[in-house]
Amino acid sequence: MNQIKKIGIVGLGMIANGRHIPELLNVENCIITAICDIDENKLKSVGDSLNIPNQFRFTNYNDLISCDEVDAIEICTPNHLHIPIAVTAIKVGKPINIEKPISIDLPSCKPLLRAVKEKNIPNMMCFTYRFMPAIRYAKWIIDNGLIGDILNVDVEYFKDSGFITGRRLEWRFQKEKAGTGVLGDLGVHLIDMAELLAGKITSVCGFTDIIVKERQKLDSDEWARVETDDYCSFICNIENGIRGNFVISRCAMGKPNSVKFDVYGSKGTICFNMNNPDVLDVYSKLNDDWNKKLITVDVPQNFHTTQEAEFIKMLCGEPCDLLPTIEDGIRSQKILDAILKSSKNNSWVKIK
Ligand SMILES: NC(=O)c1ccc[n+]([C@@H]2O[C@H](COP(=O)([O-])OP(=O)(O)OC[C@H]3O[C@@H](n4cnc5c(N)ncnc54)[C@H](O)[C@@H]3O)[C@@H](O)[C@H]2O)c1
Repeated sequence: MNQIKKIGIVGLGMIANGRHIPELLNVENCIITAICDIDENKLKSVGDSLNIPNQFRFTNYNDLISCDEVDAIEICTPNHLHIPIAVTAIKVGKPINIEKPISIDLPSCKPLLRAVKEKNIPNMMCFTYRFMPAIRYAKWIIDNGLIGDILNVDVEYFKDSGFITGRRLEWRFQKEKAGTGVLGDLGVHLIDMAELLAGKITSVCGFTDIIVKERQKLDSDEWARVETDDYCSFICNIENGIRGNFVISRCAMGKPNSVKFDVYGSKGTICFNMNNPDVLDVYSKLNDDWNKKLITVDVPQNFHTTQEAEFIKMLCGEPCDLLPTIEDGIRSQKILDAILKSSKNNSWVKIK
């Protein structure tokens, strides 16, 4: 029988409460034993709801990482803290699950690259879409040749969250804490998905913009400049002559969370819509009548899993399919940096 894995969570904000904690509570062989946040109110509310004893509620992540009651660490803080927390955990030999994007830019990832070279510790990146049944099924369809050779991918991710009334200058809008804006927040998922389904991106030509230019500070009514993008589009070349077209915005009124990911092949098409993640619209050899129309297909049960179920499987040494790692996180950071550079210089940038 598998040993129960004891999990510590650093950062108790939206994603910890919205995904990590609920999914972990649904996995059998794990228990959340320790939590950490600099916000005492969050420590209390999450700690009370999970019945975490006071001695395992920390405000300093070093204390959580060194705690004997923690086997592995979930890193759910703002982006600029991912690397120092990950490096600290690796140095003491504890596996990690890191939220995306891996950091604020490629140079800041150097200490992590050094740490993983010195110690081979199990690790995972939270490229959440890789765990969605429809994406895993799409990969199976593509890998089995059912849409032929991929010609192009066409991707949109639209949210309206940039227009939430009164939204203040939180970390996401500050370059030193976020690195990129909507590009690293939403776009990084799409970049990882495109590489998973279609192949390596070889060059990018991008455009980023800041639509909401000022926001009130968190701790005063003073207004300050927004430093990260809330609109981004880019075209890219993918290996084997595949073309990619991406548009990402958090200033799309009437679209609270809308993801369209279409893959066009020489013998078929796959369309994924985030609002209906358990089905795919497919035109392929899968459709018996071959009637040249997209048909909605249910994703078979064997493609269903969750991000946290896979994390615990990884910790238990069980085989995991399509597991994203630090290597994938670094790779996507390289592409984020290249898109920003391309936008700044108004030119194509190669991905080395
Ligand atoms: N995988 C996904 O789909 C997905 C979705 C949303 C966010 N994210 C990522 O998750 C991370 C967190 O995003 P969020 O939306 O939860 O942000 P958030 O602001 O809601 O939460 C971040 C939490 O970290 C805490 N924190 C800040 N500094 C800390 C420190 N030094 N030690 C401990 N805790 C600290 C904050 O108090 C806050 O509670 C980001 O990297 C973000 O990009 C991923």
